[in-house]
Amino acid sequence: MTAPWRATVLTLFPEMFPGPLGVSLAGRALAAGLWSLEARDIRDSATDRHRSVDDTPAGGGPGMVLRADVLAAAIDAAAIAPECPKLVMSPRGRPLAQARVRELAAGPGAMIICGRFEGIDQRVIEARNLEEVSIGDYVLSGGEIAALALIDACVRLLPGVMGKQESGAEESFSEGLLEYPQYTRPQVFEGRQIPEILTSGDHAKVAAWRTAEAESLTRARRPDMWAARIGQPGTKKATDG
Ligand code: ADE
Repeated sequence: MTAPWRATVLTLFPEMFPGPLGVSLAGRALAAGLWSLEARDIRDSATDRHRSVDDTPAGGGPGMVLRADVLAAAIDAAAIAPECPKLVMSPRGRPLAQARVRELAAGPGAMIICGRFEGIDQRVIEARNLEEVSIGDYVLSGGEIAALALIDACVRLLPGVMGKQESGAEESFSEGLLEYPQYTRPQVFEGRQIPEILTSGDHAKVAAWRTAEAESLTRARRPDMWAARIGQPGTKKATDG
């Protein structure tokens, strides 16, 4: 049997893990051994008396920068497999998308470095071949919450984690479309009916309605996704029949 998918997190706040990943779907999978998590304290690799991990930026400016030597020592001490991707969470990274999540989930796991302060010394990014990853165009106070989001996105795709019920063949992004609206009982909520077609029992009509809704939502909310989709050969719109 191959080893389960492994997340190795390097952070100044190991107590933030597993955090929300210890409950619900990811938490049950963790307890079942479908994936494993190790949160390592970067500060354990500090060498001076004060256990300092950061210093002032070369060239001046506000804030503090995570030291290259300390972080490199922390990375090396983790001794992860060479084929395991080494990520660093950062708002200046490449935006995380489902395609990269799928690749990461299909691999052995990931090392995820959580930055704090103004950033980390550029030389360690280069020397340890780190991949900078952003979870969106906003600034968090550190990489930990971004790392939790990335791990959650990967773990739910691991074999055996999602049941058939939860499995996301039709979910947002898997087909380049946002998800169509969902409804359940009661039939009437504050005077609003469930769209009639959904209770008609006509499966072909339901499928066509859902595709049309997904398309109009995507067009309105995500013109970038819509443009990428219609640019692809073989994409068929519900309205094409
Ligand atoms: N650290 C701070 N903000 C971040 C973001 N948007 N994505 C990833 N890591 C971050």
